[in-house]
Amino acid sequence: MNRTFTALFVSFTMIAAASADRVSPLLNDMPRLHWQEKAPGVWSAVIGEEEAFTYMDFAGASPKVEALEKMPAVVFPFVKEDTRGAIAANRAVARIPLAPEEKLYGLGLQFQGMNRRGKVYHLRMDHYSSGNERLHAPVPFYVSSAGYGVLFNSPRYIAIYAGVGNRHDSPEFPAPRDRNTDGHWDAQPASDAVEASVVSGGMEVLVFAGPTPLDAIRRYNLYCGGGCLPPKWGLGFWHRMRTHADAAEVLKEVDDFNKRGFPLDVIGLEPGWHSKAYPCTYEWNPMLFPQPADFLNAMTAEGIGVNLWENPYVSPDAGIYDAIKPYCGSHTVWLGIVPDFTLPEAREIYKTQHAGTHVALGVSGYKVDEVDGYDFWLWPDHAVFPSGTSAEVMRQTYGLQMQKMQMEIFRAQNRRTYGQVRASNAGASNYPFAIYTDHYDHRGFVSALINCGFSGVLYTPEIRSAGSPEEWVRRMQTVCFSPLVQLNGWADNTKPWTFEEVENEVREVIKLRQRLLPYMYTAFGRYHFEGTPPIRAMVLEPGYEAAEIVEAGRLDGTDNPYAMAVRKDVADQYMFGDCLLVAPLFTRQKSRDVILPRGRWYDFYTGNYAGGGEVVNVTAPLNQIPLFVKDGGIIPMIPDVDRIAGMGNDTPLEIRHYGETPSTAMLYDDDGVSFDFEAGRYCWQEMTVTRNSQGGLDGRLSEPIGNFVPAYGEATWKFMTK
Ligand code: GAL
Repeated sequence: MNRTFTALFVSFTMIAAASADRVSPLLNDMPRLHWQEKAPGVWSAVIGEEEAFTYMDFAGASPKVEALEKMPAVVFPFVKEDTRGAIAANRAVARIPLAPEEKLYGLGLQFQGMNRRGKVYHLRMDHYSSGNERLHAPVPFYVSSAGYGVLFNSPRYIAIYAGVGNRHDSPEFPAPRDRNTDGHWDAQPASDAVEASVVSGGMEVLVFAGPTPLDAIRRYNLYCGGGCLPPKWGLGFWHRMRTHADAAEVLKEVDDFNKRGFPLDVIGLEPGWHSKAYPCTYEWNPMLFPQPADFLNAMTAEGIGVNLWENPYVSPDAGIYDAIKPYCGSHTVWLGIVPDFTLPEAREIYKTQHAGTHVALGVSGYKVDEVDGYDFWLWPDHAVFPSGTSAEVMRQTYGLQMQKMQMEIFRAQNRRTYGQVRASNAGASNYPFAIYTDHYDHRGFVSALINCGFSGVLYTPEIRSAGSPEEWVRRMQTVCFSPLVQLNGWADNTKPWTFEEVENEVREVIKLRQRLLPYMYTAFGRYHFEGTPPIRAMVLEPGYEAAEIVEAGRLDGTDNPYAMAVRKDVADQYMFGDCLLVAPLFTRQKSRDVILPRGRWYDFYTGNYAGGGEVVNVTAPLNQIPLFVKDGGIIPMIPDVDRIAGMGNDTPLEIRHYGETPSTAMLYDDDGVSFDFEAGRYCWQEMTVTRNSQGGLDGRLSEPIGNFVPAYGEATWKFMTK
């Protein structure tokens, strides 16, 4: 090459690069995504090179194709050409179109607000403290009010610009305004896309069609294998002991529950049960539990499950330490080694130890603690693991890996489990674990309950302590309308009767929860078979309009120099099962507003008409949490039982009907303990209310449909609305 030619070549490329920067046709440098239908109504596109393992792989998700086939036929929810993806700036980037009126929900276990549009989320696994980004379940899945869902299926730290940021070449680029002269200048001009990126050579994007937002969630859950179905006893009352309780203290506690007439289904043991904890040995503490088999037999005889706390960081004093060490990462957590559970050898060692010394003796499940973070507790981002899995991917998926492994232990014994975990992620719908947190804000807890249903995870707003008897009751009421009802006394040694002034109120709501077992179990049946979450945000309920208040921002030289609007995004009431609306009361709140969707709604306790299509202000005595039932709602209940596991085969049913409209609802049943339901051993019954010739209502419970004889005895109908 001669000199002149080289010089010319350089200046030509520089000009070309500069002009490409200045004028680019619409999204020209972002290639279109190519979509492949993976299951009915679920499409996948890959940007760059597919990741070695996605969230779905870590979760081992196996789509419920038959159930997806039964859903409404749908077409791809966007103009395909408008979906784009590229590898740019070392990142895999996806761009999904967004219409001006759409609201976005989800993005994991969020403790604040509901509508995620208009913010940037750097989602990352962590121990929650505040904000919207570091979460116990940073699930990169959102649902649009327009009726579709999108999952960025990459197990990495992800940045999601939820309707924020405008490319100069985007199709709906807004007209710039002059802040000097135009009062409508907007600090955050509308963007016509959701853009998301991970530092990676590729990313899979999955789109889930609706047609409704709830259908999109159902498709997502079904794609993950269907929602989990906990054992029946898991839906009863859980009590965690103080950390250093011994076997005798536990048995005394059980006795106290019996004497005071409080139901009890699971006892949780905290770190003290290990011979050493933080890091853990997974071996019984010989001082506190000298005869673990006898202790567990006594608990089993009482019909009470035992749940063991643990974290997965292995103590040098653990019997499995030497065997598992070659399969551990470079760094430690609390000086315990961190197994690389992507390796079959590590899984085998853990599973054999747990199956043999806990589960075979009767342990009903685990509480998997500390798998989420705080950076200074977890391994650093540069830690290395023997499988070659990066520290980042490990962090995002460790909670998922633990759930999968524990489920395998129990499945091998054909026993269901229900546990707790402090970290989860996309693909987890089928795992019977509820997330919990150390964060202790009652309102935040209710928001998390509402938001968990958008992301295929369950959450328990467990109760630990309270500043007053009133707070104790109000928190207990919220817990009782959640997927897992637990008092965690690990630090405060609290009991349901700790505040004696409100012992009766607390007992009453726990008993109500026990009575709702058939209703709740049916809701989980629907979660499993149809993907419908048992706890749902009101925006998923037909006839509800979210009361999101947007107040104009006032220009202020220091606090609000860009005059951003303030959005009051209220998340404080939710649907529980098919037809029950829950509106918790908080401490010092004597009354509250409840938005009743269009239609007619009735007070759960009295059956009286409460309103419809309006905001009602309600008060409730201390022993009641405001509950409303939609017209035609049918709620099957049992008499109160102290142990769900001890429930006989002919426990009578009381079937309640609310409102004036004849209706039909389904009742689900199976053996409540094994995985036989997966082989078809379950049944549904129709509960039908019709109007008789005298103008009154009659109820009928059908013969079971399916291959199982239901566990309930005689049914009595109660027409609540007179
Ligand atoms: C915390 C956990 C609590 C309790 C405690 C025991 O991390 O969130 O629920 O188990 O550890 O040390």
